[in-house]
Amino acid sequence: MKQQHNILVIGGTGKTGRRVADLLQQKNQHVRIGSRSQDPPFDWQDPATWTAALEGMDRVYITYHPDLAVPGAYEAITGLVAAAKKAGVQKLVLLSGKGEREAERCEDVVATSGLDYTLVRASWFNQNFSESFFLEPVLSGRVAMPMPEARIPFVDADDIAEVAVEVLLNDAHNGQTYEISGPRLLTFAEAVSEIAEATGRNIQFQPVSLEDYAQGMEAQGVPAPVIWLFKYLFTEVLGNPRNSEVTRDVAKVLGRPAKDFRTYAREVAATGAWTPKVTMI
Ligand SMILES: NC(=O)c1ccc[n+]([C@@H]2O[C@H](COP(=O)([O-])OP(=O)(O)OC[C@H]3O[C@@H](n4cnc5c(N)ncnc54)[C@H](OP(=O)(O)O)[C@@H]3O)[C@@H](O)[C@H]2O)c1
Repeated sequence: MKQQHNILVIGGTGKTGRRVADLLQQKNQHVRIGSRSQDPPFDWQDPATWTAALEGMDRVYITYHPDLAVPGAYEAITGLVAAAKKAGVQKLVLLSGKGEREAERCEDVVATSGLDYTLVRASWFNQNFSESFFLEPVLSGRVAMPMPEARIPFVDADDIAEVAVEVLLNDAHNGQTYEISGPRLLTFAEAVSEIAEATGRNIQFQPVSLEDYAQGMEAQGVPAPVIWLFKYLFTEVLGNPRNSEVTRDVAKVLGRPAKDFRTYAREVAATGAWTPKVTMI
C-alpha cells in the first residue's frame, strides 16, 4: 500500500483545490481543507488561524486567493511558510502563475524555505469561463474583454490538479518547477467561439479597451483591489510574451497530453453550466 500523508489543501473548495482534495481522497490520503468555511477555519487575513490548520500536517498544497500578485500575498506566504516549518510540515507545493513577476517573489519564499517543495506555474485557466469571473458574460451571450490580440495557452484545472497530486505524493519532483499550459494558443475570441459551438448558443466576443473595461467594473461596484488585479493580469501577464508559449510539462509529469479547450468546452456544455436559467413569472 502507498504511504498515507496528512495533506492540507489550502483553497480546497476552489477551482483547483476542490479537484486536488477529491483526487487525494481517492488515493486514500488524509486531507484537511484549508478555507474560511472549514473547522478549523483557515483565513489568509488572520494568521491566528494558521497554526490549527497546519497541526499534524506533513504536506501542504498552497493556493492563494485571489492571486499571488496582489499586495499582501508575499507577506502572507512568508508567514505561512514560517508557520508550516514550525508545525513540522515536510513539503510544500505552490500553485503559481506563469510569467508573473509578483508571484515569483512568493515562489522564492517557498524555494528557499529549506522544506521539500515543488512549484507549479500555470497559464490562464479554462475554468475562468465556467467557475469564475467570465461565467456571467458567457451566460449573458456577450463577452467583452481587452487584449483581443493575446494568444493564450489556456490550461485545464483538471490537469493542474492531477499535476499537483502527482508532485505532492512523488518525491522525485522535489525541487522542480513545472510550467503547465494547455496544448494550443487561443485568443479570447477563439475561446468564446469554441464555447458558442459547444453550447449551440449565440455568444459574441466584443473587444474593449482596458480603460473601458476598468470603468465598466467600477460602475458595477467592483472593489478597487480587484480592478487593480484585472489590470495587472491583462497588462503584465497577458502582455508578457512568455505567456504565449505552449509547454510540454503536463505530458512530462503525467505521461499524457494536456486537455484541449474544445474538450473542456464540450464537457462543461454537457453539464448545463452555460445554459442561462429561464425564470418563470
Ligand atoms: N485563474 C487563473 O487563470 C490563474 C492562472 C495562474 C495562476 N493562478 C493562481 O491560482 C491560485 C488560485 O487558485 P484557485 O483558482 O484554485 O483558487 P480559487 O478558486 O481562487 O480559490 C477559492 C478558494 O479559496 C478560499 N478562500 C477565499 N478567500 C480566502 C481567504 N481569505 N482565506 C482562506 N481561503 C480563502 C475559498 O474558500 P472559502 O470561501 O471557504 O474561504 C476557496 O476554497 C492563485 O494563487 C493564482 O495566482 C490562477
